[in-house]
Amino acid sequence: MLASTSMKIFAELLLLMIFPLLLNIGTGIETSTHNINQPYRTSYHFQPQQNWMNGPMYYKGVYHLFYQYNPYAATFGDRIVWGHSISYDLINWIHLNNAIEPSEDFDINSCWSGSATIIPGNEQPVILYTGIDDKKHQVQNLAIPKNLSDPLLREWTKHPQNPVMTPPNGVEVDNFRDPSSAWQAKDGKWRVVIGAQNGDEGKTMLYQSEDFVNWKVDPNPFYASDDTGVCECPDFFPVFINGSTNGVDTSVQNPSVRHVLKISYLSKHHDYYFLGKYVSDQENFIPDFRFTGTGLDLRYDYGKFYASKSFFDYANNRRILWGWVNESDSTQDDIEKGWAGLQSIPRQVWLDKSGKRLVQWPIEEVGQLHDKQITITGENLFNGSTLEVSGISASQADVEVLFELPELESAEFLDLNGVDPQVLCSQEHASRNGIIGPFGLLALASKDLKEHTAVFFRIYQAPDRFVGLMCSDQSRSSLRQDLDKTTYGTFFDIDPNLKKISLRSLIDHSIVESFGDEGRVCITSRVYPSLATGIDAHLYVFNQGSQSVFISKLNAWSMKRAEIGPQGNISCA
Ligand SMILES: *[C@@H]1O[C@H](CO)[C@@H](O)[C@H](O)[C@H]1NC(C)=O
Ligand SMILES: *[C@@H]1O[C@H](CO)[C@@H](O)[C@H](O)[C@H]1NC(C)=O
Ligand SMILES: *[C@@H]1O[C@H](CO)[C@@H](O)[C@H](O)[C@H]1NC(C)=O
Ligand SMILES: *[C@@H]1O[C@H](CO)[C@@H](O)[C@H](O)[C@H]1NC(C)=O
Ligand SMILES: *[C@@H]1O[C@H](CO)[C@@H](O)[C@H](O)[C@H]1NC(C)=O
Repeated sequence: MLASTSMKIFAELLLLMIFPLLLNIGTGIETSTHNINQPYRTSYHFQPQQNWMNGPMYYKGVYHLFYQYNPYAATFGDRIVWGHSISYDLINWIHLNNAIEPSEDFDINSCWSGSATIIPGNEQPVILYTGIDDKKHQVQNLAIPKNLSDPLLREWTKHPQNPVMTPPNGVEVDNFRDPSSAWQAKDGKWRVVIGAQNGDEGKTMLYQSEDFVNWKVDPNPFYASDDTGVCECPDFFPVFINGSTNGVDTSVQNPSVRHVLKISYLSKHHDYYFLGKYVSDQENFIPDFRFTGTGLDLRYDYGKFYASKSFFDYANNRRILWGWVNESDSTQDDIEKGWAGLQSIPRQVWLDKSGKRLVQWPIEEVGQLHDKQITITGENLFNGSTLEVSGISASQADVEVLFELPELESAEFLDLNGVDPQVLCSQEHASRNGIIGPFGLLALASKDLKEHTAVFFRIYQAPDRFVGLMCSDQSRSSLRQDLDKTTYGTFFDIDPNLKKISLRSLIDHSIVESFGDEGRVCITSRVYPSLATGIDAHLYVFNQGSQSVFISKLNAWSMKRAEIGPQGNISCA
């Protein structure tokens, strides 16, 4: 039944990782007005009703999200299960019963992350997941749908030969987890990568199989880094090299694609990616650059975004990326809120024309939630000006702005050597005067501006080029003190011929998800204002640079609430 064929894979199921959403299935969905006792609960980001969360696939017309879920508490713990929700549009979600729960020696302690793959031919979805066994060792298990005629794939059966992979030589028994979606190489055999650790060394191990049940490890790591510790949730996929925004099936290997290896380094709490060349007959991935542990490494998102997974949505010819977004308040706050963790907005991902970076953009379905719209065109933002974007619900909004820059020759000089952009963002904060910038948005701001989350740019001249700095400054996001208010930031190259920078931010009560430079740089923040909640939240556009910047166009929308809840209470398609 699981025999491989050389046919095209149709899709992957996705599913995510290690970090949970916590929820309690069975309570009704919230009403359309925001719950005043839950000012930080999001309205259009996926989160479980209660408790801790955290992956995706498209199968026969239905999107499936499997996620790490703790049914018992708003914190991580034992007996983690695979929560399961489905959607027809990736926006509105129906929570189903758990897909996989601890039950056997090979997963009795917990069912951790893994991934789904759709076997072509009979189009069978399969899941590989990490079980924490009765000895607390990490092993990989196979699960298959109980009833292939059920389009919702509600029930899953664990394979009798589980575990199908146990920790190999040179891998710690308690650091061997998170199988990726599988791909088929030219020899017809399946490959997966699995996250691992040995001492300080972090690595991803490559396995091969003809039938998905019997797996053979390659003794050489697929990718290893000396001093990172464990690699989690590895993801490996091809992207077109010609700038096409289309996605590519995971098994495609030909001269029109390059490959992306993503690794979540637990010690850094960030998702890093490596672009490179995959030579499948030598089981070799040659990255353009190796991990450095500096601000030069490429990340999907320079804020809070971890344990992401991607899948190929064959119905719409695109690759979609989702990340888990952690909280920035305390565990005690999570217990009081009754939930922790949410999913980012699903992002379409492709390789930029330059070939140097990925581009990420909120899926177009987000537009279904657009409600009242405000447009500003042709406005000059002088030194020190702050302009309110009024008339929309600023706590639940989508805003997109295109800034035209002044002559770049006036920009400040900066020697980039050894400069950490995140540190620079906290020094050159939003209220500091600069020349070109800081300019950008003040999201979730109180009327008196005592509270605001500033998402902004500054432009510099480096010896050989112009660079932009994109920052998300949480230092004034809340009057509350007991929060992680780290300022995030990164550099990106400015095209001197264009002299334009775009910024889009999705604001949803306690999350500000920002896409700079048309999605080449992304920063997600979690913030918990005490004044700027609900109708008391405001949105501004500002410029603190001595040079004026020009708003070519700004569009902002109030966002409708997505329908996310248990079956029976919402109707999807
Ligand atoms: C639907 O919501 C109502 C109240 O809003 C609740 O009583 C009922 O149990 C919910 N139904 C399901 C299937 O969750
Ligand atoms: C399998 O699913 C189909 C479609 O939901 C259903 O009609 C059928 O009764 C199910 N079979 C079993 C054995 O549950
Ligand atoms: C990019 O390459 C793919 C595969 O060769 C092709 O199908 C697609 O049309 C190309 N797209 C663009 C924008 O050139
Ligand atoms: C998530 O955030 C909490 C603080 O709320 C922190 O203690 C924990 O280390 C974070 N986990 C990850 C994986 O980022
Ligand atoms: C910009 O504003 C700041 C503060 O108001 C002021 O110190 C500075 O001189 C102004 N710069 C220019 C070029 O107007």
